Amino acid sequence: MKSDQMIGLAQPQETHAYVRPVLDRLLGPVKGNWTTESVRASAEAFFAGRETLLVGKGATSHVKLWVFKLLHQVHLGLDLTDDELLAFSTFQASNLILIGVPEGVVSNTVVRAALSIETTLEQRQQYVDTYKAALQKFLPVETAALTPAQLNILASNVLDSLCFAGGQSVQTVITQTLTLLYSARGQAMLATARPNTAAPASTATSDSAAPFFDLRASDVPVFVMETIRRFPPVSVFVYSERSPPTRTFLSLQMAQRDPAAWGDDADRFVMRSLATYHQLSVGWADKAIVDGDNGAPNSRVCPGKQLSFVMICEFLNAFLRASGADAGAPLPEHAWIVDFDPKVKTRVVDWTGYGLSTSFVLRRNAS
Ligand code: HEM
Repeated sequence: MKSDQMIGLAQPQETHAYVRPVLDRLLGPVKGNWTTESVRASAEAFFAGRETLLVGKGATSHVKLWVFKLLHQVHLGLDLTDDELLAFSTFQASNLILIGVPEGVVSNTVVRAALSIETTLEQRQQYVDTYKAALQKFLPVETAALTPAQLNILASNVLDSLCFAGGQSVQTVITQTLTLLYSARGQAMLATARPNTAAPASTATSDSAAPFFDLRASDVPVFVMETIRRFPPVSVFVYSERSPPTRTFLSLQMAQRDPAAWGDDADRFVMRSLATYHQLSVGWADKAIVDGDNGAPNSRVCPGKQLSFVMICEFLNAFLRASGADAGAPLPEHAWIVDFDPKVKTRVVDWTGYGLSTSFVLRRNAS
């Protein structure tokens, strides 16, 4: 596959070398086009007057739409309308299918027609063209240094960052945190979330009744870190050698649950200290950074690491405030009623060892 046809994460080093500094300029912790305050204001606006919250897989998921809105502002300086956001979310779902199609069958005309591959590719190119123009306006100096072919690849990478790298992982983690809080199994797992809490007689994978978990604003950073450790949204990191050409797939999921690193309770949801996560976590490919420089051509650590952490934390902080948990008070048990949207087909909680995914609606409890 040519580099402009594959997703950015797997691109060759020659391409990565000029894309990476631009990604750092857009997303990075120092130069990035965001601040904690701007993310907080976005989350606050999202919850203002909100009566329902659609969570999960469907294109209409409110969580997804918020993530796409903020990431378009950060990547491109674009403020999408509600209709444009829904169109992007619908496109993202079909674009996501493409990366799951095995290379051996991708040229099969029946498969191509069944999956509407041509339509998705056409839409993809339309987004790339729009993003090229937006990037030229947003970053005139950086883009002037690129050839037209390089600009095309950069815009394609930004699309992948919006669709897959950032767009998929952030909404997945937010969905996981809310699934933990609003499902019986999640609540059972959270019974041992605070360190040194004795494990209940039943295992944490059963649907046993447990007291509602008293999540507080002070827990949010470690609650998010533990969710990313226990249910990593990005499963592998590909390590490439040029000579001899080899590719090694490192399982981040297994590393995040390695008892040799995390201890005997590696399989349980236990909020550890922030220092422990900073030392041991590899969920963002944290160690793949050259001389501590996020924008270095050879750095492969997630360039959106700090941004994604702030987004998820600020979303949950705004959720707590919108639920009446101000000034350090715990999340009230009955602030929201859990419901299912008839338009959202997936109701089953998928409790694989490494992931939990579900779709549901939280409706504000008027009583
Ligand atoms: C909890 C959320 C996130 C996690 C766990 C995560 C994790 C990762 C990991 C493990 C990689 C390395 C993958 C590889 O090279 O094989 C990666 C790369 C990347 N991530 Fe993230 N990510 C998250 C959120 C984000 C966000 C919000 C953005 C954009 C705003 C983003 C943009 C990227 C990009 C563009 C790359 C490719 C970087 C490169 O190849 O140099 N990620 N991410």
